Amino acid sequence: MLKTKVLKMLSEVNDFVSGQQLCEELEVSRTAIWKVIKKLKEEGYQIASVSNKGYHLISTPNVLTKSEMANHLHTTWVGKEIYSFQEIGSTNTVAKELGDQGKPHGTLVIAETQTNGKGRRGRNWESPLGSSISMSILIRPEILSEKASMLTLVMALAVHKGIKEITKANLKIKWPNDILLNNRKVAGILTEMSAEPDMVHYVVIGVGINVNMDSISKEQAPYASSLKAETGQEFNRAELIANISLWFETYYKLFLETQDLSIIKKEYNTYLINQDKNVCVMEKDKKIIGIAKGITDTGKLLIEREEGELLEIYAGEVSVRGIYGYV
Ligand code: BTN
Repeated sequence: MLKTKVLKMLSEVNDFVSGQQLCEELEVSRTAIWKVIKKLKEEGYQIASVSNKGYHLISTPNVLTKSEMANHLHTTWVGKEIYSFQEIGSTNTVAKELGDQGKPHGTLVIAETQTNGKGRRGRNWESPLGSSISMSILIRPEILSEKASMLTLVMALAVHKGIKEITKANLKIKWPNDILLNNRKVAGILTEMSAEPDMVHYVVIGVGINVNMDSISKEQAPYASSLKAETGQEFNRAELIANISLWFETYYKLFLETQDLSIIKKEYNTYLINQDKNVCVMEKDKKIIGIAKGITDTGKLLIEREEGELLEIYAGEVSVRGIYGYV
């Protein structure tokens, strides 16, 4: 896409790039470049245009357009194809449709807002316009379908690391896939798949992050917050998505080496907020109380009961809480 290429050239130098250089390198006319610059300005990019000097990118808006996303990505395969929407029902649903259409491994779907965002266990997920991240990655792993649920934990580590590197905040993971800051949820992950027992067609991993909302109403979501509300800072969403995607490639490779979490388990357990704490596991009408002892190689949560008995809890439909509250 010409817009992406122009943006890339402008953002690579902190100076003017001449119109002639853009035309020659991109093999297009002056008018084509002028039209792209006009479009970029409309999208909120501040670009100085000076005759005899050319164009200078002064500032970039915090938007999730395809060009802005492509400009930030330094991945090998995540985001090879990008679909971006101003408003969409759910990025997971779009990614599944793209999966059915045969789109490639690593296809990335992003949106400025979702009208029907889906959370775990049938809940809704709010994605306010312009201040949240809604992203879904379509992957085609050659694994047995029973192993796919581990990918949620692989992504949890990537989201944790990807956000932490940029925000420098002390984030934690609440098993299996919530990302917490100051004991409040700032990101969640929803994994869906299309599979037969011995073969996975595709997996869609969706990530929702509360980034630049000033606050989140306590009535609506008593345990939720945003990166901005907790740190007082605003963050560039495309940069966050790019960094999470990069880390996802790393952790995914480690997962594929053994087709389980044995290599990344230690790191996951380091950040586990429930580690060595009393937790209450709720499964429909059953309640199990014990001390969380980290995850197993397959991503189950180990719970030590009073009698010293160790139970392995499968993520499925359970929810884990601290015995006196959320964590
Ligand atoms: C949860 O914690 O309940 C999971 C939330 C997952 C939300 C994300 S936002 C992007 C993707 N599209 C969806 O409809 N859901 C996921």
